[in-house]
Amino acid sequence: MTDSSDTDLLNLTRLPRHIAIVMDGNGRWAQQQGMVRTAGHKAGVNSVRNTVEACARYGVEVLTLFAFSSENWKRPEKEVGLLMDLFFTALHREVKRLKRNNVRLRIIGDRSAFSEKLQKRMASAEAETADGTGLVLQVAANYGGRWDIAQAMQQIAADVVAGKVASEAVNEQLVSDYLSFADLPNPDLFIRTGGEQRLSNFILWQAAYAELYFSDVLWPDFDIKALNAALQSFANRERRFGKTGEQVRIEEKREE
Ligand code: FPP
Repeated sequence: MTDSSDTDLLNLTRLPRHIAIVMDGNGRWAQQQGMVRTAGHKAGVNSVRNTVEACARYGVEVLTLFAFSSENWKRPEKEVGLLMDLFFTALHREVKRLKRNNVRLRIIGDRSAFSEKLQKRMASAEAETADGTGLVLQVAANYGGRWDIAQAMQQIAADVVAGKVASEAVNEQLVSDYLSFADLPNPDLFIRTGGEQRLSNFILWQAAYAELYFSDVLWPDFDIKALNAALQSFANRERRFGKTGEQVRIEEKREE
């Protein structure tokens, strides 16, 4: 499906390979409509669906969504329970659509804290979409950037003790290799909706060079127009990776 806002995108000179999104503002959206906070999470699932399908259409390689942070367990029990139910239902209901859109689903984070039933559903949704060759959709669940770095350190320490890795071999590349989604490109666009301007312990190491984009739109209102605005902003930026602007422009000219 295309619409006029899709056509505008054809003019984009640069499309991010990997977009990471902190989907914030569900609770406030619901409160603004006089509804309970959890209604906002339900409405947020529609934005998830639309964003996934738009990214798949545009040819973005990876989309990582922050669905539940390591800190979200501190929310009221009822809200946590509703979120678990939502994940469970969405994982079941959306698989067909994901397959139709050639999307491969992957869950990142410490799943051991989830119920066995939910863990099984996560594994089966991943298995059912494993043949997808288009967009990789990563759902971060019970994920934290510091948790990721710590779990990498734990594995490295174990491999050093086992004699598989020499301690002198521990460098940035090696650490990267032990983190979640080491096989995928790092996020180059980091979006946070809902007007707050924080990283909230999302992918910290991997987003070291990501362009940050903060939108005031609350997640349930995040539509194709809002996504296109983020992509347009990304396309207009010059990514220098520590080099001078002049060096970057010379390199780009050479690649043309
Ligand atoms: C933050 O909004 C949002 C969350 C903690 C949950 C995100 C979950 C979804 C969008 C639903 C399902 C996701 C998938 C992948 C099926 P908030 O509650 O912190 O909003 P507030 O800042 O307005 O209170």
